[in-house]
Amino acid sequence: MVAGENKQMKNQDLKKFQDSSFLVKSSCAISMLTAKLEIANAELFLELGRDVLIHAGGRIKSIDSILAKCRKKGFEPTYENALEKLNDMIGIRGVCAFEDDVYRMAGVLYSHKDLKIIKRKDYIKNPKSSGYRSLHLIVEIPVYFQEKMEWVRAELQLRTPAMDFWAGVDHQLRYKKGKKEAVLIGEELKQYSQVVAELDQKMMELRKRIDAI
Ligand code: GTP
Ligand code: MG
Repeated sequence: MVAGENKQMKNQDLKKFQDSSFLVKSSCAISMLTAKLEIANAELFLELGRDVLIHAGGRIKSIDSILAKCRKKGFEPTYENALEKLNDMIGIRGVCAFEDDVYRMAGVLYSHKDLKIIKRKDYIKNPKSSGYRSLHLIVEIPVYFQEKMEWVRAELQLRTPAMDFWAGVDHQLRYKKGKKEAVLIGEELKQYSQVVAELDQKMMELRKRIDAI
């Protein structure tokens, strides 16, 4: 969380983000969701004899990004609005070895009674117009803090290393895209997203052939 003053958000709202239990509860939610991914991996390891989860991590959205997103979505950037309307104040990413592992991982999470999955966006079956691919689950997890339980919302992004590579490059280049170049770069990135999708398929087929030996 960026601590610097931002004149576009009222001081009282900034303080709520910085001083309230928001940060503590958010980092608890990140730890718990990361642990869920690791436990699911341990369970799947027993079944498959290999790691499904390559990497897991989380982040709390910076004040600047919260402001930008509130502006983009057209509502006043207050603490309450952000908490109610933004699904990705807390973001967790789980990178899974193969495309079918992404769905295996999601399947295990669906069986957890202490996890509410409130929205599913399958950008693998239906990639975004940019070419972006990942499985997104908007989840709520109970966090116990100061004698109260609160369902804390987070965006869980599940993807393969190839999808992660593409998204990382896309994210980096987006800031460098001038207006004129933007369309060309965007189109080229979209083509590479197709290449990445084909590589994912080939790697998965190879693994299936090896599994069958
Ligand atoms: P934003 O796209 O963040 O405004 O929120 P949304 O409510 O439209 O959700 P969406 O499911 O479209 O995207 C949520 C998150 O997915 C983003 O914050 C990014 O982390 C990731 N994402 C979505 N589209 C792209 C994309 O085209 N490129 C990259 N690199 N990441 C994307
Ligand atoms: Mg979007």
